[in-house]
Amino acid sequence: MLPPGKPNPFHPGYGEIPPVLAGRDRLKRNFRDRLKAANSGTPHPTAMALMGPRGCGKTALLKWVAKAARESNLPVVTMASENLSSVESIARGIARKFPKNLLERLSGVNLNVGPVGAGINLANSSRTAGAGELSSWLEALGGESGGVLLIDEAHNMPPEVGHVFYNAAQTVGGDHPLLLVIAGTPDLDSVLSRSGATFIERSRMERIGRLDREEARQALFEPFGKHIRFSDDAMEQVLDEAQNYPYFIQLWGQALWDVLARTRAHNPGMEVVNEARKNVNVQRLELYSRRMDELVNCGLLIPFAEMTWRLGEGGQPTSYDFQLSLNHIEPGVSLFEEQPESRQKLLHTGFIWQPSLGTWEYGIPSLASHVRGESVSLLLDTLKSRPESIIALAALDQCFGKPSDHLRELPRKKVTASIQEKLQASEVAPESMPGDPVAGFLAGKLLIEGDTPDRVSLAAPHLVRATVEEAIHRQLLPNPDPPARTDPEPPTTKSKPPSP
Ligand SMILES: Nc1ncnc2c1ncn2[C@@H]1O[C@H](COP(=O)(O)OP(=O)(O)O)[C@@H](O)[C@H]1O
Ligand SMILES: [Mg+2]
Repeated sequence: MLPPGKPNPFHPGYGEIPPVLAGRDRLKRNFRDRLKAANSGTPHPTAMALMGPRGCGKTALLKWVAKAARESNLPVVTMASENLSSVESIARGIARKFPKNLLERLSGVNLNVGPVGAGINLANSSRTAGAGELSSWLEALGGESGGVLLIDEAHNMPPEVGHVFYNAAQTVGGDHPLLLVIAGTPDLDSVLSRSGATFIERSRMERIGRLDREEARQALFEPFGKHIRFSDDAMEQVLDEAQNYPYFIQLWGQALWDVLARTRAHNPGMEVVNEARKNVNVQRLELYSRRMDELVNCGLLIPFAEMTWRLGEGGQPTSYDFQLSLNHIEPGVSLFEEQPESRQKLLHTGFIWQPSLGTWEYGIPSLASHVRGESVSLLLDTLKSRPESIIALAALDQCFGKPSDHLRELPRKKVTASIQEKLQASEVAPESMPGDPVAGFLAGKLLIEGDTPDRVSLAAPHLVRATVEEAIHRQLLPNPDPPARTDPEPPTTKSKPPSP
C-alpha cells in the first residue's frame, strides 16, 4: 500500500524535476567535474549544449545542474526565452537575477548600474555598449571563484544576438571559471551555426533523447517504494506504452499513483494499469492534438504525414526522409542546397531528429502513428463537403501512378484533363465541377510546381493513396474493380537524392 497521505511525487509537465531523474549518468558525472573545476577557480572555456526534442528532459537536467551548483555554493543564474531577444535583454536578465550577495564582484567593473545593486538600467545601451555590459556581467558571474549560467530554450536566441553572446561567453570563459550550459530543441545546432560564432566548434553538444528501458523502469517504479510490487505483465505493459519518453513516464507514474492511492492495492496488476490508462490517454491525446495544431500552423503536416505513410507503421526515418521533407517545403531549391531556415523549422518540431549524428528516429514514435491516422481523416474531412474533390483526388492518385515514384513530374494540362475526364465519368453534377482543380491542389500544397510552371508533381503520393483507400473504405468513392491505372505519358523524374 502507498504510505497514507503521501503526495503524488510525479508532476508531468515541462520543467519539473522528476522524483527519479533516471539515466544521464555520464552527463551528471561530467557536470559534477565541471562544477568542481569552477569551484576551484579553474577557467574552462568549453560550454555545454543540451539538444533534444521537447519532453525529453533538458529543463529537468538544467534544474539538476542548478541544484548541484547551489549545493557546492556556486552562484547560478538561469534564463529562458523571455530574456534572449537582444544582447541588452540578456545583460538585463543577468543583472536582474544576479545573486545579491555577489554584487561586490562588480566593483571596479564599468557598468551602467548606478549605485551597486540598485536601479540597474541597460535599456539605453547601444548594441556595442550592450556587448560590453554583457561581458562585464559574465565576468562578474564567473569571478575568481566560479559561477554558473544556464540558458534554457536557447534555440530562441536570434543568430545575430547569439553571435555577440557566444563570442563574449567564450572570451570570458577563457579567463574566468564560468560554466555556461545552454539547452534547446533539435534545431539548436542549426541556430548556433547560423550565429556564426566559433562557439559551436568549441562547445560540447549533448543529445538528450528518450531513456533506455531499464532507465524508464527505474524512473517509473522506484518512486513507488519497495512496498509496492507491480506484477511483471503490468510493468512491461506500462513500459511498452510509455515508450521510454520521459514525459509519458511521468504521465503514467502520476496516473498509476492516483489509482493506487484510491484502491490501496499491494500488488497492482493489469486492472490498475487499465484504470490508469484512462487518464494517461486524455493527456496523451492533448499532447498529440497540440503537436498536430503546431504542424498544421507551420505548414508541416503534409510533409510529415507523407513521411509516416511512406515509411509504414514501425518504419524508421533516415536522412533521405529528412531531405525529402525539406524539398517538400522548399520545392524550388535543389536537394543539397543550403536551406538553413527550412532545416531549422523542420528540426525545431523534433518530429524526427538525430539521437546520435547520422541516426534518425521519431521524437515520439506514437505521435507518428497518430499523425498517420489523423492526417488522412483531416484531409478527407476537408474534402468531404465537396464530393467532386474526392473524385479529383482519386484521379490524381491514378494519373501519377505508383506512390514510390514520388518525384515524378507530369504536364499540368494532362493532369487537368485526367481530373476533368474522371469527373465527367462520375455522377457529380457538372455545375459543381471546379474550374481548375489543379490550382486548388497547388494551393493546398498537395501538388507542387515542377521545374517549369507547366509541369506539376505530387507532393504527398503516399498520403494521397492512403486517403483514397480510406475514402473507398468509407464508401465515399466506388470500389474500383479492378484498380485501373493510367499513365498519360512517360514521366520525367527530377534528379534524385541518393538512396538511404
Ligand atoms: N531523466 C528523467 N527521468 C525521468 N523523468 C524525467 C527525466 N527527465 C525529464 N523527466 C520528466 O519529463 C518531463 C519533461 O521534462 P523536461 O525537462 O520539461 O523536458 P524538455 O525540457 O526537454 O522539454 C518532466 O515531467 C520531467 O520531470
Ligand atoms: Mg524545457
